[in-house]
Amino acid sequence: MESHIIQIYDIALPACFGVGKLEGKTVFVPETVLLDKVRVEIVSEKKNLLFAKVIDYIELSKFRQQPACQHFYICGGCCLQDLIYLKQLEIKEKYLFETLKRIAKLDINNIEKSKIVASPDIYFYRNKIKLFFLKQTDRVILGLNKKEYFWQNIKEIFPIKECIIFCSRLSPIISEISEFANLLSKNNLFENLILRDTKFTGQTMLILVARSFLQEKYLTLFKEKIAKLNLTSVYFLFKSAKKDNSYKQLHIFGQEFIQEKILDRIFRIYPLTFLQSNIKATKLLYDKLKELLISIRSKRILSFYCGAGFLEILIAQNVEKIIGVDMSKDNILCARENALINKQDNCIFFESKVENFTNIEFKNIDTLILDPPRSGLSKAALDLILKLKIPRVFYISCNPATLARDLLRFLRFYKVNYVASFDFFPHTCHLESLVFMEILK
Ligand SMILES: C[S@@+](CC[C@H](N)C(=O)[O-])C[C@H]1O[C@@H](n2cnc3c(N)ncnc32)[C@H](O)[C@@H]1O
Repeated sequence: MESHIIQIYDIALPACFGVGKLEGKTVFVPETVLLDKVRVEIVSEKKNLLFAKVIDYIELSKFRQQPACQHFYICGGCCLQDLIYLKQLEIKEKYLFETLKRIAKLDINNIEKSKIVASPDIYFYRNKIKLFFLKQTDRVILGLNKKEYFWQNIKEIFPIKECIIFCSRLSPIISEISEFANLLSKNNLFENLILRDTKFTGQTMLILVARSFLQEKYLTLFKEKIAKLNLTSVYFLFKSAKKDNSYKQLHIFGQEFIQEKILDRIFRIYPLTFLQSNIKATKLLYDKLKELLISIRSKRILSFYCGAGFLEILIAQNVEKIIGVDMSKDNILCARENALINKQDNCIFFESKVENFTNIEFKNIDTLILDPPRSGLSKAALDLILKLKIPRVFYISCNPATLARDLLRFLRFYKVNYVASFDFFPHTCHLESLVFMEILK
């Protein structure tokens, strides 16, 4: 097959492919970084875009670094560990503003923006990991999805020994739980192992997602194993027979919750509580948001997609009233409990889909906070939000593409005043953004 020499001049997010040019066409090349010079073979072509595979590295970029994780070249979790962190930040910020310009048609030169904020920790920053059990012919393995490129068609799990973006205490947990799963390998009982870790208080919760419960003798053995692991809390989760993706929770060991501490506030976390995955970086975003809310004198805030109320409780002291809305019952129960233990009675939480929320008098609200999932706002949610005509809106997003799509509609009625970005996810293609808008007069 014919080969070509390509100079990589950019990295395309979110795919993390190196970008080069060949005879005027753009070429995407996985497993390269900015300024690599590589020999490639073209694998496919779609709408004038070429997709290529490296067959030889001719010159390695000065921006390369040795990946810290032994699984980097096989694991589907991180894609940028071989690029120095400063360059990771640059390409994320560029991706955000290019996306806002291209999709939202935002005039990015005429808005106030601040430089992307680095994560306080770039290793061991994640507070949650979900591993998969896979039954092979002779054993059960516990691992993550492999990297998958366009010239392959594999969905495979590989066994992991460590995850340097999660927690340094993972290895002994994996080895004990794998050993235990192998004792029961005939039964193929387990689907996932989920671990949750707190970064300011050092607590760990272990959650086994199982197909059925253990016989008494195996439960005793399981308890012996987990006793060695210095865990704060252990649960079994079983998928409910109902078709609503809910789980039955069974508390097995230790406390019923783990606790995170942010400033002087305590937050309880249960197996199904939503929590941003990098709490130290999240705190920086919340600090910025709080600063902006104080500067514009926000008093009565409505917060859609509030999760377990961390943000709302942290800013409550500075406002008159804050109302959080989330569709997850687990999140809302947890948010109410957290408001209670932090004595924050001006935080009120409603369990509801945003699309159906009619419980309050909207005309009293001066500020709206939005923090939807990666898919962004549904059409129905956006229709409702635009009808409310709330004077100030803060939109927090972990997906520049859906943020930009939604902003395009906001821009008919609102003006973007400020954009900030935060690296919640070092070594991966993701970033978090905060957009502040005011209604057009
Ligand atoms: C990105 S999380 C934000 C959580 C929270 N703001 C935080 O910082 O921890 C998105 C949240 O939206 C909730 N959610 C998703 N779709 C929803 C909907 N249609 N209506 C209400 N809540 C929804 C999820 O339960 C989840 O808690």
